[in-house]
Amino acid sequence: MPVNLHINGRPVSVPAGCSVAAALAIAGNGITRISVGGEARAPLCGMGICQECRVSINGVRRLACQTTCSADMRVETSQ
Ligand code: FES
Repeated sequence: MPVNLHINGRPVSVPAGCSVAAALAIAGNGITRISVGGEARAPLCGMGICQECRVSINGVRRLACQTTCSADMRVETSQ
């Protein structure tokens, strides 16, 4: 059963149990944020250590790799 959510305002459908990090990759380039030096950053470790996957989920900063997608979730990256 697919899960429907929004990434940067765009509707995306992903398989149930999919992490937000995986949903970002499915939806496009997987970029989560821009560093202070202007470089694009993306999930690296996939296990909650590197902090590169920080995004806003329903208005709260969270780790995309540690968050499972749920219906109507709103994910915002810093792109
Ligand atoms: S990918 Fe490293 S903390 Fe999420």
